[in-house]
Amino acid sequence: MRPTSRARRAKPESAPVDLRSDTVTQPTKQMRAAMAAAEVGDDVLDRDPTMRALEERVAGLLGAADALWTPSGSMGNLIALMAHLTRGDAFLAPAGSHVLEAELGTAAWLAGGMPRPLEHDGGPGKITPDAVRRAAGGPGAYYTMRTSLLCLENTHNAAGGTVTAPEEHAAVAAAARAAGLSVHLDGARLWHAAVALGVPPGALTVGADTVQVCLSKGLGAPVGSLVAGSAEFTEEARRLRKMLGGGVRQGGVLAAAGLVALDRVDRLAEDHERARVLAEGLRERGWQVADPETNIVLIGVADLAGTLARFEESGVRVAPMGGKVRLMTHADLTDDDIDTALDRIGPVEREREAVPPHPAPTAPPTGPRSLRRTAGAAGRAPARRAGR
Ligand SMILES: Cc1ncc(COP(=O)(O)O)c(C=O)c1O
Repeated sequence: MRPTSRARRAKPESAPVDLRSDTVTQPTKQMRAAMAAAEVGDDVLDRDPTMRALEERVAGLLGAADALWTPSGSMGNLIALMAHLTRGDAFLAPAGSHVLEAELGTAAWLAGGMPRPLEHDGGPGKITPDAVRRAAGGPGAYYTMRTSLLCLENTHNAAGGTVTAPEEHAAVAAAARAAGLSVHLDGARLWHAAVALGVPPGALTVGADTVQVCLSKGLGAPVGSLVAGSAEFTEEARRLRKMLGGGVRQGGVLAAAGLVALDRVDRLAEDHERARVLAEGLRERGWQVADPETNIVLIGVADLAGTLARFEESGVRVAPMGGKVRLMTHADLTDDDIDTALDRIGPVEREREAVPPHPAPTAPPTGPRSLRRTAGAAGRAPARRAGR
C-alpha cells in the first residue's frame, strides 16, 4: 500500500513538482505554533532553554554525551573538522562526500585539512576497513603528512542516499581508531539510514568521536543541525561556533521547530517508499536508475544539461549530482505528485537521453590559458553540482 502524506495543501495543477532536494519543505503549522510559543533566553550569554532541550534530546538519540545546535550542517561539519584537525593534517573521506565536494573546500580552507578521497570499495558510498588501514599508513619520515581523521557520511548523498549498516560502520570506525585516527560522521541524513535499517540512530554512531545531524533535510525544519560528541568537544565546539558567527541569541525560536521535526523521523519511511515508486516508474519508462535505498533517486543520462532543461520545462524540478540527475522525495510530496512527475517526465528518448555504453571522452579545455584565466572568478560558468 502506498503511504498517505502530511502534505495535502492545495497546489495549482500547473505547479512544478519540486524534487531538487529534501530541504525544499515548508514548516508545518505545528512547527510555526511551537516557534511562536517557544520559551527563550540568550544562548550566547547563558543558554536558551529550548535549544538546550533540543540538544539534550538529540544527544540522547545519538548516544552522545552532549550536542550543540548549529545553523547548518556545513557549520556542524566544519566545527568538528576544526576541532579534530591540526593545520596540514590529511583526512580521509569516501569520494564524493559532502565535506569534499559541496562545502566550498572549508575542510582545507578553514580547518587546514588535506583531503584524501577514498574510492567506494565497499559498495556505493562505502569504504572498507582495509582501505582505511592502507590510506592511514603508519608514521612516516618527518616531511610526510600526518593523517589524523576519517570523515564518514551516512547516508551518502552523492552515491544516491546509500546506507551503511551498523556492523559495516563499526568495522570501518574501529579500523580508523586502531590506526590512530579520529572519526567524524556526517549524518545529515542519519535518520534516513536508521529508518531504512530499522535501527535506532545511536546504533550507527558507534566508534565515532563526533556526529553531525540535520533537522532541515527530510524532517521539515526550516533551519538547524546539531553536532554531537563528548562534553569537552561540545565546549570547544561552542567556542568555534561563536568564532564562525553561529552563536545566536534567542535561538529557541528555531530549536522549537527542530523539536517538532524530530517527531517526523519514523515517517521518513513514506519518503523512501515514494522514492521506490518513482524509481520503478522511471525504469518502466526506460530511464537508467538504481534501486534507491532511501529518498534519493539518481538517473544516469547521456546529456546531463539537456535532460535537466527538459525536466525543468516539463514542470519537474531536479538537481545535477555527480554527472547524474538527482531526484529527492520529501515531506511535502503526495503520491499524486509522484504520479504527476512520472507523467511529465515520460519515456526516455532513446538516442538522445539514454546512457551510452561507453562514456564519451571529455574534450580538454580549449583556448589560450590567459583567456581562460581572465574568465576567472567573475566570468566563471555556473556550478553544475548540487550542494544540498
Ligand atoms: C550529506 C550532507 N552533509 C552536509 C550537508 C550540509 O547541510 P547544510 O545545507 O545545512 O549546510 C548536506 C546538505 O544537503 C548534506 O547532504
